[in-house]
Amino acid sequence: MDLMEYQAKELFAKHGVPVLPGETVDTAEAARGVAERIGKPVVVKAQVKTGGRGKAGGVKLADTPDEAVEKAEAILGLDIKGHLTRKVLVTEASDIDTEYYASFLLDRANRTYLAMCSAEGGMEIEQLAVERPEALARVAVDAVAGVDEAKAREIAEAGKIPADVIDEVTQILVAMWRVFVEEEATLVEINPLCRTPDGRIVALDGKVTLDANAEFRHEDVFTAYADVVAEDDLEGRAKAKDLNYVKLDGQVGIIGNGAGLVMSTLDVVAYAGEAHGGVKPANFLDIGGGASAQVMADGLEIILSDPDVRSVFVNVFGGITSCDAVANGIVQALGMLGDAATKPLVVRLDGNNVEEGRRILEEAAHPLVTVVDTMDGAADKAAELAGSAA
Ligand SMILES: Nc1ncnc2c1ncn2[C@@H]1O[C@H](COP(=O)(O)OP(=O)(O)OP(=O)(O)O)[C@@H](O)[C@H]1O
Ligand SMILES: [Mg+2]
Repeated sequence: MDLMEYQAKELFAKHGVPVLPGETVDTAEAARGVAERIGKPVVVKAQVKTGGRGKAGGVKLADTPDEAVEKAEAILGLDIKGHLTRKVLVTEASDIDTEYYASFLLDRANRTYLAMCSAEGGMEIEQLAVERPEALARVAVDAVAGVDEAKAREIAEAGKIPADVIDEVTQILVAMWRVFVEEEATLVEINPLCRTPDGRIVALDGKVTLDANAEFRHEDVFTAYADVVAEDDLEGRAKAKDLNYVKLDGQVGIIGNGAGLVMSTLDVVAYAGEAHGGVKPANFLDIGGGASAQVMADGLEIILSDPDVRSVFVNVFGGITSCDAVANGIVQALGMLGDAATKPLVVRLDGNNVEEGRRILEEAAHPLVTVVDTMDGAADKAAELAGSAA
């Protein structure tokens, strides 16, 4: 689970990583009180789970409480790479001498952990990693040995952190490692790790990803930081139902079983769509191997509530769950949805017990359902229905 900056900073404070005082608000007017309590110039920062907030206008300095309200007004509601800003962090502004970078992450390729550190942090870190990789130190961290003071110093030295602050940065790296281990994170990143003109070091930003496999050991944290899902947020609602759903910007809703089949379904629909006014797939949705009628209903419900969707292509290959079970699932799902099912469905079944599956669908004779035997044929039919509904 990805955390927002303010949540990451709460974990930082808990484990001794220095952060500046701040509070999160969801109305512009509430920013005034926070700015007054801080009593110094503040920075108003969009709380969204994506990078590049600064460049998108989501990080603004405010010298007075009035200005904090003004800046919060400008940032709340801002769309940052498809993420709507619903909260802002109002936090003390810091003078900045230099911006450093530090992170710990899971290095899957090398089956270990990795520390990264650089004396040249800030918003251009991705560019630095590409253009001058030698300026971004990468130090492998042994999972058992972990990061003690000696290891932390090695990481800071590799990152060319200046000698006069290396003791302080070393302590911060040890504290970051505590966050990583004790909270069971797969990423703990500080960018920028700020050096102030008077030589103090403080985390001005924070990114933490918690390992969802360890949720059962950290239920308090996961509950406290769970997303409150908005009604209009399809991906959020799908996630709440444990569906593997990604919103795309086309018009043909897609349901399939198995990631590979769904990926190729997207390709086939995009190709077929060219002949029908350029319609495209509206989403990725893999309902997995043993999909029940309930999962089918959940998936259909999400897809049908996407206002962009004009037709739905259900593409299932019967394996362990045979085609007759899937067909019954579709019929039951349409029954559960009742009047909520409003858009035409094209169903293609193949594989285990396909004849029986097709027979069940034909017998049900649902007015919205068209059964097509081939994947290409079904894609074409779904694209045609979406194109003609425009
Ligand atoms: N509290 C603060 N005081 C002064 N300057 C700040 C403060 N917070 C952020 N900044 C400045 O704004 C820049 C961008 O802030 P931040 O790193 O939090 O967002 P970002 O990097 O754009 O977002 P992301 O890390 O999600 O890509 C920082 O590099 C820093 O220069
Ligand atoms: Mg940042």
